[in-house]
Amino acid sequence: MADIRFDGKVAIVTGAGGGLGKQHALELARRGAKVVVNDLGGSMDGTGGNSAAAEAVVAEIKAMGGEAIANGSSVTDDAGVALMVKQAMDTWGRIDVLIANAGILRDKSFSKMEIADFELVMNVHLMGTVKPTKAVWEIMRAQNYGRIVVTTSSSGLYGNFGQSNYGAAKLGIIGFMNTIKLEGQKNNIHINAISPVAATRMTEGLMPPAMLEKLKPEYVTPGVVYLASDEAPTGAILTAGAGAFALSRIYETEGVYLGEGGLSVEEVRDNWAKISDPTGQQAYVNGGEQGGKFFRKLGAG
Ligand code: NAI
Repeated sequence: MADIRFDGKVAIVTGAGGGLGKQHALELARRGAKVVVNDLGGSMDGTGGNSAAAEAVVAEIKAMGGEAIANGSSVTDDAGVALMVKQAMDTWGRIDVLIANAGILRDKSFSKMEIADFELVMNVHLMGTVKPTKAVWEIMRAQNYGRIVVTTSSSGLYGNFGQSNYGAAKLGIIGFMNTIKLEGQKNNIHINAISPVAATRMTEGLMPPAMLEKLKPEYVTPGVVYLASDEAPTGAILTAGAGAFALSRIYETEGVYLGEGGLSVEEVRDNWAKISDPTGQQAYVNGGEQGGKFFRKLGAG
C-alpha cells in the first residue's frame, strides 16, 4: 500500500512547542503537511508563556524543508484561537487536520484540591479542545473534509489518584467526540482520540529513567498521524505507548429485564450478578443503540 502523505494539506497542532505535540507536528510536516505550530509556552501548571517554543519547532520544520507558522495563543482564548485559524486560512486557504493536544496538570488528591485548580484544568483540556474544534468546524464542513484528533488519557478512561480534575476533563473530551463524530460524518469529518503514554515533562519523575527511555513521544506519533490521515476511522480511542497500540472502548453488559410491575430496589440487588455479567456485552456507536436494547428486552420480556 502507498505511504500515508499529507501533501497539500494543512494541519494545526496545539501544544506543539514540546513533548508529544512537537513530535506530531514534525511527523506531519515530514509527510508533506503545512503546519500551524501552536503553543502558549507556559510552565506545566499553566502559568507564564511566550511563543518561543512554537517558533523553535517552526524553525526545525523549515530547516528540513517544510512549511510551518507559529502561534503563541492559549487554546482557551477566543481571540487567540480565532487568530490561529485566521493565520492558517490567510497563509494556506484551508485546514484539513486539527490535533488538539495542549494540556496542563494541577494534581492533588480531591480533598486537597481547590475548585480553581479543577476549573482551570477542565478549561484548558476540555474547552481548549472544544474551542479550536469549533473554530475549524465550519471550514471543514464547507470543504467536506476534516480530520480531528483529540487527546485523552488513561486517567480519564480508568482513573488515577490525584487527577480528578484532569480525569474529568479527559473523559469529557471523549463525550464531546462521541457526539461530533456523528454530526461530522456526512461532511467526511472524522474525529478520533489518542490516549498516550510518553516520557515528557508531564511524566518526568513519575517513572524510573529506564522505563522513561522506552516511552519516547515519537513512539506515540505514528498512531496520531494515522488517525489524522485520509484512511482514519472515526470515533476510535487509540491507546499508545512504548510502541504498543490498542483500542479502548466503553462496553455495556446485556443486562436483565425486570418487568414493569413490582420493580423494587431488592430486585435490582438480587439481579446484580446478571446485570454485571459480561457475556454478550457490547460497545455502542450512539446512545440510541442503548435505548433500542431496552425496548428489545421489553418486547422479549
Ligand atoms: P507537555 O507539557 O510536554 O506538552 C503540553 C504542551 O501544551 C506544552 O508545550 C504547553 O506549553 C502546551 N500548553 C499548555 N497549555 C496551553 C494552552 N492553554 N494553550 C496552548 N498550549 C498550551 O506534555 P505532553 O505529555 O506532551 O502532553 C501532551 C498531551 O498529551 C496533553 O493533552 C496531555 O494531557 C496528554 N497526555 C500525556 C501523557 C503522557 O504520558 N505524557 C499521558 C496522557 C495524556
